[in-house]
Amino acid sequence: MRIVEVKAVKDENPNVRTLFFADDLCSSAKAGQFVMVWIPGVDEIPLTLSSIGSQSMDGFSSVTVAEVGEATRALKSMETGELIGVRGPFGNHFETISRSGRALVVGGGIGMASLMPLIDRLTMEGVETTVLLGVKSRRDLLFTERLSELSSRGGINLLVTTEDGTYGAKGLVTELAENVISSERFEIIYSCGPEAMMHKIFKIAEEHRIPAQLSLERIIRCAIGICGSCVLGPYRVCKDGPIFTSDQLRTVRDFGKFKRGFDGRKTPI
Ligand SMILES: Cc1cc2nc3c(=O)[nH]c(=O)nc-3n(C[C@H](O)[C@H](O)[C@H](O)COP(=O)(O)OP(=O)(O)OC[C@H]3O[C@@H](n4cnc5c(N)ncnc54)[C@H](O)[C@@H]3O)c2cc1C
Ligand code: FES
Repeated sequence: MRIVEVKAVKDENPNVRTLFFADDLCSSAKAGQFVMVWIPGVDEIPLTLSSIGSQSMDGFSSVTVAEVGEATRALKSMETGELIGVRGPFGNHFETISRSGRALVVGGGIGMASLMPLIDRLTMEGVETTVLLGVKSRRDLLFTERLSELSSRGGINLLVTTEDGTYGAKGLVTELAENVISSERFEIIYSCGPEAMMHKIFKIAEEHRIPAQLSLERIIRCAIGICGSCVLGPYRVCKDGPIFTSDQLRTVRDFGKFKRGFDGRKTPI
């Protein structure tokens, strides 16, 4: 584990904060990989890298945290100059496609964190990319400046849905995805968000015979494939994932249905 200083923070919305830091190993991470972040005196939790130093202007990597419990609350209240521990990067990564193909990226809420370095990479490689972002309400929008900048430069086609209709189209991002996929051709679909949402995206992708790469979450403790707390069918999310392909997910019966809690018992999703 390396101890790193928080170099800057950015509030994405009232519940989500991005923390920037300098770290050589994270700088050479691949899009979709995660790190274990130690919050001194509190806990160590898995978080995806929301930017990768080698791809960002200032050379900083970042994690973006949504407050859900004790550890995320402590991390979200951290300020510039405070120290955190970082292990990793761990896991596999999103595979990009050739620039002749078209990519659809579907993010739900904080799931967008995992997709941001992928979007950076796709635009750098000149892949025509449509990004669908779904949040509950206007106040939950995140990565607004980064996405608007990419959109205004023509790097991506950005479409937003809110469940209450306060921004963009009213409804679920899965409904928008269904419409977009029915009217345009994509070579690949990438997604990260609540598992119920990704399960729906997976089904739409299967109906249209489009390969998908989805980033899944399970309880992660060791992050190196030893403890077994992250099992998903025959896979360990920390080592074999967190990115899974349609070919893999077709055979995983728990996908979209059950996950295991800290005691190892299955609970419905
Ligand atoms: C690969 C991966 C990447 C993630 N990336 C992000 C991210 O970029 N941003 C973000 O905000 N969140 C991310 N998460 C979720 C984040 O790890 C949890 O929200 C966090 O661990 C909750 O801790 P807590 O103490 O605040 O809440 P708790 O009250 O301890 O837990 C709240 C819920 O969070 C989940 N959770 C708790 N501990 C873990 C754990 N060790 N591993 C996985 N899930 C856990 C459980 O579903 C639990 O019910 C990611 C999870 C995984 C597995
Ligand atoms: S977190 Fe220990 S095996 Fe995956």
